[in-house]
Amino acid sequence: MPGGGAVPVTGTSDVNRVEAPVTVRAYLIVAFAAFGGIFFGYDTGWMGGVLNMDYFIKQYTGYDYPDVWNPDATADQIKTYRNEFFSVPSWQQSLTTSILSAGTFFGAIIAGDLADFIGRRMTIILGCVIFSVGGILETASTGLNVMVAGRLIAGFGVGFISAIVILYMSEIAPRKVRGAVVAGYQFCITIGILLANCVVYGTQNRRDTGSYRIPIAVQFLWAIILAVGLALLPESPRYWVKKGKLDKAAHALGRVRGQPLDSEYIQDELAEIIANHEYEMSVVPQTSYLGSWMSCFEGKITNPASNKRRTILGICMQMMQQLTGINFIFYFGPVFFQQLGSISNPFLISLVTTLVNVLSTPASFVMVEKIGRRRILIFGAAGMVIMQFIVGAIGATAGKNTADHPANPNATRAMIAFICLNISVFATTWGPAAWIVIGEIFPLTIRSRGVGLSTASNWFWNCIIGVITPYLVADRADSARLGSNVFFMWGGLCCISFFFAYFLVPETKGLTLEQVDKMLEESTPRTSRKWKPHSTFASEMHLGEKHIEIPVGTDNVAAKTATTV
Ligand code: BGC
Repeated sequence: MPGGGAVPVTGTSDVNRVEAPVTVRAYLIVAFAAFGGIFFGYDTGWMGGVLNMDYFIKQYTGYDYPDVWNPDATADQIKTYRNEFFSVPSWQQSLTTSILSAGTFFGAIIAGDLADFIGRRMTIILGCVIFSVGGILETASTGLNVMVAGRLIAGFGVGFISAIVILYMSEIAPRKVRGAVVAGYQFCITIGILLANCVVYGTQNRRDTGSYRIPIAVQFLWAIILAVGLALLPESPRYWVKKGKLDKAAHALGRVRGQPLDSEYIQDELAEIIANHEYEMSVVPQTSYLGSWMSCFEGKITNPASNKRRTILGICMQMMQQLTGINFIFYFGPVFFQQLGSISNPFLISLVTTLVNVLSTPASFVMVEKIGRRRILIFGAAGMVIMQFIVGAIGATAGKNTADHPANPNATRAMIAFICLNISVFATTWGPAAWIVIGEIFPLTIRSRGVGLSTASNWFWNCIIGVITPYLVADRADSARLGSNVFFMWGGLCCISFFFAYFLVPETKGLTLEQVDKMLEESTPRTSRKWKPHSTFASEMHLGEKHIEIPVGTDNVAAKTATTV
């Protein structure tokens, strides 16, 4: 826009022009944010391994290593010594593991609030800083108190990052690849879990503080990469529209689309976002701070477009994702595989399941865009019901491992194979789609809070699963000792997920976030897949008559993008 001046924003009535075309560099900007998933995965992945490290246990309990305690001890004596003395007490294990979820739960809710005040980008950067403070405490800790404080603070940071990365990505990604990009976030979660497992595996036998400090300290790398990267990326244009800073919104949009500021495409896309926001504000005005929270629960639950319905949908979506039982496998895998008998290295099997998770996820990049969110959630739930019931059925028959029925190695192998298939189904369906959907269903007026609440629900249920699992399957007096029957329970819960997806989840693929709003108003979840955009908010809100102009400087955004990103 040589010479500077003002660009009029009138909007278009052409439904195909509501999003600007995108350059390769713009795709890369969007994809970078997915890196935030590494935090999520890595932080949930390292604690379990560290709690079982000899050096860590010695430091916590004050007891000698088993080989120092009695160099001539038999395997049975060592087992008893480990069970009775040389292990971190269960309540401490529970506390250090679940305190992270407590932090993430509150972190996600607070971040949802903050992202509307200081912006999406700054909230994520702040999350990295908070996370690092927690990480310093965790690394420095030599006892329970400091470790717990560190986990709580780090969890806070992870809560910020896990909620707002989804929000940021959904708001800046072009509609055609939005699902694939958010699936990239899920991919990073799986890589994070794998990396944590590998680093812990590499340091677990060290007899110095490096055994636990190295896995913890590696996390600083993620914080630095994400914070520095985001400092260079543009803010979400939708955030600036919400703030009423239209010039900044135009600049940000120009950068995320890689287009010059005076491009008609940018003007049309911006007009649509502005008109949609005006429309949403006219439906549910936000008067005060409390009022803006209350508006998340405004409207009738029976209306698919009401804020209440959308908020509950997001919260339940994440709850159902956790109730698929996926984290049972990741958190409790080694213990469960040991119980199956005839397995020499349960840790290795655990590593295999983590690897299956990583390798399966990329298929979802294509599936979420071709098959759609709604259908993969329905198929995914059905697939997991089948896989988990098969595991349960084998476990109850040929795979039974009791005194009068020793484990059959082939049956055990078959169970592991079906558990891996179950992971693949999750990784290509509910894993990514639950995150994609929560980034898409909320209107701008409540989007950051809606995503925050939904993410908090994910961590809440994640925590519940972590806490109750030992009581379901562990081999001890206070446990229900369900063994492989636990898969009947997870399979049963997946049946509920199936109906949940069928009756309540709309199809959002290929639509802009503003079109999703319209689709929710004009269709039901079951008819949503057939819905087609037919009008624009800009024309309905008569934006052209409002004479909105955006002041712009002398710089050309496309040129600026080249130097700053
Ligand atoms: C879930 C996590 C889970 C991970 C496994 C995520 O989508 O929210 O709880 O551990 O997938 O890949």
